[in-house]
Amino acid sequence: MADGKALRSVALQWFKREMTLRAPPAAEAPHGLFGLSWFHYVVMLILLTFAGAMIWMSFRRISRAEALLTSLTTGKRVVSEIAPAARSPRAPGAAPEAALTAFPAPPPAEYKVVAPAGLPAGRWSGQLRVAQIFQETADVRTFRLMHPAGGDLPFVFQPGQFLTISVTTEGKEAKRSYSISSSPCCRGWCEITVKRAPHGAVSAFLHEQVKAGDLLEASGPYGKFSFRGAEAPSIVFIAGGVGITPLMSALRYLTDQSWAGGIFLVYACASLKDVIYREELEYLVRRHPNLHVAFVLSDEDSPLWTGPRGYITKDLLVQAVPDLSGRLIHLCGPPPMMQAVKTILSEVGVPPDQVRTETFLTPEPGLPRPPGSPISAPSAVAAPICSFVRSGKTAPLPADKTILDASEDVGVNIDYSCRQGYCGVCKIKLLSGEVTMAVDDGLAAEDKALGFILACQAKASADVTVEA
Ligand SMILES: Cc1cc2nc3c(=O)[nH]c(=O)nc-3n(C[C@H](O)[C@H](O)[C@H](O)COP(=O)(O)OP(=O)(O)OC[C@H]3O[C@@H](n4cnc5c(N)ncnc54)[C@H](O)[C@@H]3O)c2cc1C
Ligand code: FES
Repeated sequence: MADGKALRSVALQWFKREMTLRAPPAAEAPHGLFGLSWFHYVVMLILLTFAGAMIWMSFRRISRAEALLTSLTTGKRVVSEIAPAARSPRAPGAAPEAALTAFPAPPPAEYKVVAPAGLPAGRWSGQLRVAQIFQETADVRTFRLMHPAGGDLPFVFQPGQFLTISVTTEGKEAKRSYSISSSPCCRGWCEITVKRAPHGAVSAFLHEQVKAGDLLEASGPYGKFSFRGAEAPSIVFIAGGVGITPLMSALRYLTDQSWAGGIFLVYACASLKDVIYREELEYLVRRHPNLHVAFVLSDEDSPLWTGPRGYITKDLLVQAVPDLSGRLIHLCGPPPMMQAVKTILSEVGVPPDQVRTETFLTPEPGLPRPPGSPISAPSAVAAPICSFVRSGKTAPLPADKTILDASEDVGVNIDYSCRQGYCGVCKIKLLSGEVTMAVDDGLAAEDKALGFILACQAKASADVTVEA
């Protein structure tokens, strides 16, 4: 106070000294742009980058969802693949072959599935292990089958061929055929895709009893319903429901091989949720510009589906497959659908020998025979006798029974599958006598020349001897 300092200032100094309070540090001088530290800038940069990434991911997600919705509702991604060819119709009067040159011709060499050394040529029978089971739709499952000891499959197959699976249900052995749906390019496994038939013996057994790790008795491969790319410069697959299976094997094989010919699939199903392999087909369409897929749905009630509804019609086929009459066609589906499509194809002018079919019907023994088969009236005359040489057994062979029926009566084992004369599985050699066959499609010309017959079709009016 003597120095003339203000009373308040002297009191404040004294208070701070007594309370040992330090003077506040001098404010740190700002050292970054806009007075912010570099630490601030780094943190802001990280936050901005993160926000940018989140916005970009949201946009990607929205655009993918839009694309998916479009493909589901309009079938555009799938059907639009057909448009370019459809927009360039061939000149009036031009030969169908000329129009086919709109698609790149396949390489001249024949694609072959070659049996590795050491594998038996032709048929094989034995056990396969169920490696995995996939639920395809509500009533369709795919069974992936492998060699029980691992490694490659013990047989080679052509795309479209089938296996016969034997199971024992309720104490009885039952055999059914299932097309191999996978591509023969996979050597380590094959797949069958089975629809559960209501009250069906074997399909229900496979769906309900069989689990991964189980062994299945199988034989095969059988059948000639195959397309490997060398037979024609383009191919049309027409499928209904589970009839897609042999066609899917060929479609997978052709795309595995990057086959350059035009591949057209017209696939009829009840609804979108019944379309087997839908996601895979959409994926393959994206990868292979020569693959064109059109779905047609008979019972789809969702307003999201704006693609074709109902059954396969002439208009739909002509629009989906340009120059239809000039192409090879493979058809497989329920019998009424196949009949309707065959009628359409003949109206469109497709020659019958350009249409190849596979039928999944398996009539059981004792069910009505195909129309045209003679049915004998009960007769006092003794039935002819069929002698089975290898098993040393004989059986009566009345006029309404086939050699296959007679063999089952006396426990002679003859393999069978379709029981309709198509698959050739029941082929046996006729050693003496004569037979008639209502259908003999399952025999090649050389089989006939060598004296083979189809046991499921062969009937006789006099004694016969066969090698079984
Ligand atoms: C070459 C070939 C390839 C095939 N490929 C496949 C394939 O890839 N996928 C596939 O799923 N199928 C395929 N099949 C069909 C398959 O072989 C069987 O025919 C099918 O699985 C039905 O067999 P299941 O034993 O289940 O029925 P089954 O017992 O033979 O019955 C046949 C039909 O009769 C009906 N039925 C039976 N009992 C009764 C009853 N008590 N009351 C009312 N109805 C009854 C069943 O509903 C069924 O529709 C193929 C057939 C062939 C010839
Ligand atoms: S079982 Fe198929 S042809 Fe005889």
